[in-house]
Amino acid sequence: MIKKFLDRWLKAGKDKNNPDQLLKELDHERLPHHIAIIMDGNGRWAQRRGMPRVYGHREGVESLREIVKTCNELKIPVLTVYAFSTENWKRPKDEVDALMNLLVEYVYKEIDDLDQNKVQIRAIGRIHKLPEACRRAVSYARERTADNDGLIFNLALNYGGRSELVDVVRAIAKKVADGEITTEEIDEQLLSAHLYTAGLPDPDLLIRPSGDFRISNFLLWQLAYTEFWHSNVMWPDFSKADLLQAIYDYQNRERRFGGLKTK
Ligand code: FPP
Repeated sequence: MIKKFLDRWLKAGKDKNNPDQLLKELDHERLPHHIAIIMDGNGRWAQRRGMPRVYGHREGVESLREIVKTCNELKIPVLTVYAFSTENWKRPKDEVDALMNLLVEYVYKEIDDLDQNKVQIRAIGRIHKLPEACRRAVSYARERTADNDGLIFNLALNYGGRSELVDVVRAIAKKVADGEITTEEIDEQLLSAHLYTAGLPDPDLLIRPSGDFRISNFLLWQLAYTEFWHSNVMWPDFSKADLLQAIYDYQNRERRFGGLKTK
């Protein structure tokens, strides 16, 4: 968190962990349109408590529930969370299986509430390579919430930024080969229109808890001008107050997109 922010809060005698106070500080007209989160730190959080890593993932689902609810209440248009990367298959089979089971459990447990609150569930990544039970849960959630007009909640599953770009190149190359487009027509806009996130704004804010400063193959194209917010809190401890601090910090930054400061 930026020092200026902390100083201001401490001087005003306010509590930076109080969501109600934080909510009053936010400019609700300038909220991020898209927040992306790398939900990191579950394993370490559990191991520090002498528990198996999977326990951390389970607790991580609780944080996710609160963050989805808060984003929806704030009327943030899009939230994308990194739930399983193309590299996570390298983990021990029991951890991979537990993550897949958690996903299925999460969908069926949360779907009524999410649907009632008008959340639209989507998934990005190579979904067709997930186990059948996951694919079924994802299609069910997608279809059931497709007409909802609240938060667009994107689950990045078997997602990798590089494999997304490979898929984009393949799709565009096929269109060129089929004579649908010429190579001269390939530009940034066309590329964006072939991403898994086509039609969605690029993230304004990327949140990575748990102390590491890495993108970890997440949304490589989309994060070009995203504001990065970092915290040492492990994902299972990540709270509504942490999210609001990140948004507050984001609102106090100057975004130049490679240009100069506006007067
Ligand atoms: C990274 O922490 C987290 C993951 C690889 C999985 C995130 C999954 C969840 C929060 C729960 C399941 C999701 C859904 C949608 C039900 P890590 O294990 O790499 O932590 P570490 O860096 O401490 O080892």
